[in-house]
Amino acid sequence: MSLRLLHLLGSPVLRQRSAEVGRPDDEVTQLVEDLFETMDAARGVGLAANQIGVARRVAVVDADEDRFEMIDPVILESEGRTGAEEGCLSIPEIYGEVSRPERIVLEATDRYGNRFRKEATGLKARAIQHELDHLDGILFLDHLSLVKRQILLARYRREHKDDTSYLKEVQPESAPSE
Ligand code: NI
Repeated sequence: MSLRLLHLLGSPVLRQRSAEVGRPDDEVTQLVEDLFETMDAARGVGLAANQIGVARRVAVVDADEDRFEMIDPVILESEGRTGAEEGCLSIPEIYGEVSRPERIVLEATDRYGNRFRKEATGLKARAIQHELDHLDGILFLDHLSLVKRQILLARYRREHKDDTSYLKEVQPESAPSE
C-alpha cells in the first residue's frame, strides 16, 4: 500500500468523467488499498480515484461505521431531500451546504468482482453521492448557487495563490504526544 498525492481544485483530472472498470484486476485492488490508506491519512469519509490522479470509476467510503469500496457504482433509487455541510479533500478548508437525496440504494462492485447493493441514509448516503459525483467530474461546489460558489472560489484562490502545483502531499497527523 502507499500514500498517494491528492489532486486539488484546478487539476484537470477532477473534471474528467472517469472510465468504467469492469472486472477488477490486481491493479484495481492496489488502487482500492491506496485510496483507503490516503483517505485515512487525510481523515476523510470518502475518496475517489481521480482525486489521486486515476480516472477510473473507483471510490472508497468510511462513514457511519461502514467501510467499503465502490467500483462502477450506480444509484438505483433515491428519495427525499436533505441539506448538510460538505467539504472535499480536493478543496481544503472550503465548506458549503449541499442539498441531496436523503436515502439511496447503491449498486457497485467490490474488489473481488462481486456486485452488491447497499441502502444508505444520513452521512453515508451523502458520502456515496459526493464520491459518485467525483467520478463524473462534478464537485460539491457545482451544487451551490452561483453567488455562493463564486464567493467560495474567490476565497479558495486567495488562500492558494502561492501554490505552485495541483498536487498535495497528505500529512498524516502524528499520534498525540504525552
Ligand atoms: Ni470530494
